[in-house]
Amino acid sequence: MLKGLIFDLDGVLTNSARFHLGAWNDLAKELGINLTPDQLDSLRGISRMDSLNLILKYGNQEDKYSEEQKEEFAAKKNEKFVEQVGKMTPDDILPGITKLLADAKSQNLKMAIASASKNAPKILTRLNIMDEFDGIVDPATLHRGKPDPEIYEKAQELLGLESNEVISFEDAQAGVEAIKAAGQFAVGIGSKQLLAQADYIVPDTSKLNLKEIETAFNKYEE
Ligand code: G6P
Ligand code: MG
Repeated sequence: MLKGLIFDLDGVLTNSARFHLGAWNDLAKELGINLTPDQLDSLRGISRMDSLNLILKYGNQEDKYSEEQKEEFAAKKNEKFVEQVGKMTPDDILPGITKLLADAKSQNLKMAIASASKNAPKILTRLNIMDEFDGIVDPATLHRGKPDPEIYEKAQELLGLESNEVISFEDAQAGVEAIKAAGQFAVGIGSKQLLAQADYIVPDTSKLNLKEIETAFNKYEE
């Protein structure tokens, strides 16, 4: 029986993913690396340092910089991102999300955030939806990033639920992989090709309908 929902943040509740990807793309260009659209997309859901390392790998520059230089690059990217976050308002909540959260609440579903972003509390505060959630996984406590299931397992634990009692929402390929590895029902938001592993896929958040998703979930859990 469905008892809880777990949400990724960037690209699911708000469109901050484009700020992350934009800032990474700028940094990559500065380093002389031209990322393909698929390479850029693969950064979704990946932690700050892992994203930087992946970009350097795409540019065949894995061993070019010291850890200190890499810290500087990551800090620069984060500065740019935080600047964008500072301008966010509740209007930046993606279409369909406010209704989804309200529907979940009226069904007494518990809700948690499973975002790799250290900026998640800041973003949720800007969006004025911090209080909607019963738990937020602290990414600093994680040993492994998505696609490892750890973050989704932790979110489920925070809610005190079993894997067959939750639905998890993701826009990232690595995130959908993490949800499936945690044994949970995955809703993918985005491309059918990239998110093929998801159990239910919508092209964008405006198509999210809790009743319909729950029907698919119930069939899956039968
Ligand atoms: C989320 C985003 C990623 C981002 C990661 C770390 O998972 O999807 O694009 O790299 O969080 O975010 P942070 O704000 O800690 O750099
Ligand atoms: Mg995301």
